[in-house]
Amino acid sequence: MAVFSLVGNVAVIIVWCKNLNLENTMDQDHRPLHIFFFPYLAHGHMTPTINMAKLFASKGVKSTIITTPLNAPYISKSLPNSPKTPIHILTIPFPHEHFPSLQGCESLNALPSPHLVPTFLKSIAMLQEPLEQVFRQSHPLPHGIIADMFFPWATDSAAKFGIPRIVFDGSCIFSACLVEPILLHKPYKNVSNDSEPFGIPNFPGDVTMVRSQLPDFFKNDDHFMADFIITVKESESRSYGMVFNSFYELEKEYVDHYRNVLGRKSWHIGPILLSDAKEDRGKEISLDEHECLKWLDTKKPNSVVYVCFGSIADFPDSQLKEIAMGLEASGKEFIWVVKKSKKDEIFTEESWLPQGFEKRMESEGKGMIIRGWAPQMLILEHEAIGVFVSHCGWNSTLEAISVGVPMVTWPVAAEQFFNEKLVTEVHRIGVPVGAKKWALKVGDSVKWEAIEKAMKKAMEGEEAKEMRMRVKALSQKAKEAMEKGGSSYSDLNSLIDELAAGFNFTKEKRIPHS
Ligand SMILES: *[C@@H]1O[C@H](CO)[C@@H](O)[C@H](O)[C@H]1NC(C)=O
Ligand SMILES: *[C@@H]1O[C@H](CO)[C@@H](O)[C@H](O)[C@H]1NC(C)=O
Ligand SMILES: *[C@@H]1O[C@H](CO)[C@@H](O)[C@H](O)[C@H]1NC(C)=O
Ligand SMILES: *[C@@H]1O[C@H](CO)[C@@H](O)[C@H](O)[C@H]1NC(C)=O
Repeated sequence: MAVFSLVGNVAVIIVWCKNLNLENTMDQDHRPLHIFFFPYLAHGHMTPTINMAKLFASKGVKSTIITTPLNAPYISKSLPNSPKTPIHILTIPFPHEHFPSLQGCESLNALPSPHLVPTFLKSIAMLQEPLEQVFRQSHPLPHGIIADMFFPWATDSAAKFGIPRIVFDGSCIFSACLVEPILLHKPYKNVSNDSEPFGIPNFPGDVTMVRSQLPDFFKNDDHFMADFIITVKESESRSYGMVFNSFYELEKEYVDHYRNVLGRKSWHIGPILLSDAKEDRGKEISLDEHECLKWLDTKKPNSVVYVCFGSIADFPDSQLKEIAMGLEASGKEFIWVVKKSKKDEIFTEESWLPQGFEKRMESEGKGMIIRGWAPQMLILEHEAIGVFVSHCGWNSTLEAISVGVPMVTWPVAAEQFFNEKLVTEVHRIGVPVGAKKWALKVGDSVKWEAIEKAMKKAMEGEEAKEMRMRVKALSQKAKEAMEKGGSSYSDLNSLIDELAAGFNFTKEKRIPHS
């Protein structure tokens, strides 16, 4: 800091680069490497992109995040204050003049009504011109752009300027690769009903799915979303490559398939959360949060169930009640995070809980209900946690793997049913609760008996012990991947080297049609 005030910004960056020995962050003309990051306009996509930009910045890469004005504050408050990290935000205008119904809204999270989703998707397509305007005004041009998968046109925009476009898919390569053969070969048409399993053609391993686990729009040939996903996949195949917040050892077979069979490039640079300083994760936690960690301190190792379905999945009251009954029947101690606010009246029972549930659980020291946000990583890292009941969003799945906690898997929508397969069938580090239906609105299909059974299976007996050993081993591999010389460490360096070296970007490849 003293150095900073004495010699200014530039000097600090040079000193910092020297410390990290970053000769590879300059290109052949000794220009500092500069990368654009272009996250989708939704928090679930922005947060992992910001974390990725931080990782590149920590390597001395000049990083610029492109977004719209109303999203800029969300991004800037997630950036470190430290002047060491040169992350810039550059705003492009949102096409409000064409979409009056989206007044004051520039994010999927801010939509006043779900009916506006199709309108929002249309408005996103109009960001292409402003993005190209940014390229036009950039002297010199950046060395590459890492753009979200849902901006398929970014590949063409970048190509116009001779810049490599790299796709960021917020999930794992297993799930990203599974989509393509399903859309192209339609194996779900080969079965007679929704619960008859089908295999996946041109995909390694013997993964099976059932029709009800696929999004409805996959099965409906002329749905605009099916067309859109095909456009996304087609743009991926023409892009310079893909980058994943995952690690090679977790998805070896699928990475090899992608690189050697499909002949595409990918970099696996995660789990990015393991690059965060541990102190950062723990800071600013409130008294309530300390409370749940103190509570965990009083529990035996591997004894507590942690239930949390992320910020999106909204379970109906009837399903929450089944969860409560399953928890109570299992006799396990638990922390349960719910998206409910507490009722004011002390004596009013909450209608989504069985009668007297919360009081009973609290007084017996059996369980704790957290309303709203919980310090998830700190909870998962606690040795008392025995299993994580999760919707299998990639962030949560990667957190469980990173800390070595087995899962009870309860996928809901998005690519979560694919992620579940990686957990329960490929690595056998989780027990499926038996959710079988992909749905944007969660139904109440899972009964308390199934919930109790899955939790017990994941925590008791020989099979559970083996499962825990397997996930602990993966967690070790995740840590090694991020360490110097590890696979993710090396992948990140080789991506940086490649971008710094520059190349002739004339790749023209399309998905072969069946
Ligand atoms: C994913 O997990 C990390 C680390 O726990 C957290 O900081 C981040 O906010 C999470 N991202 C999303 C999109 O939930
Ligand atoms: C449909 O099933 C047949 C017989 O099992 C199999 O040979 C074929 O590959 C399947 N087609 C697809 C697209 O999965
Ligand atoms: C679905 O089809 C399979 C194979 O034809 C059959 O064995 C199974 O009973 C069917 N299930 C339902 C629920 O109809
Ligand atoms: C890039 O490669 C193409 C095809 O090999 C070639 O025609 C073109 O001249 C090259 N461009 C540059 C700038 O080297």
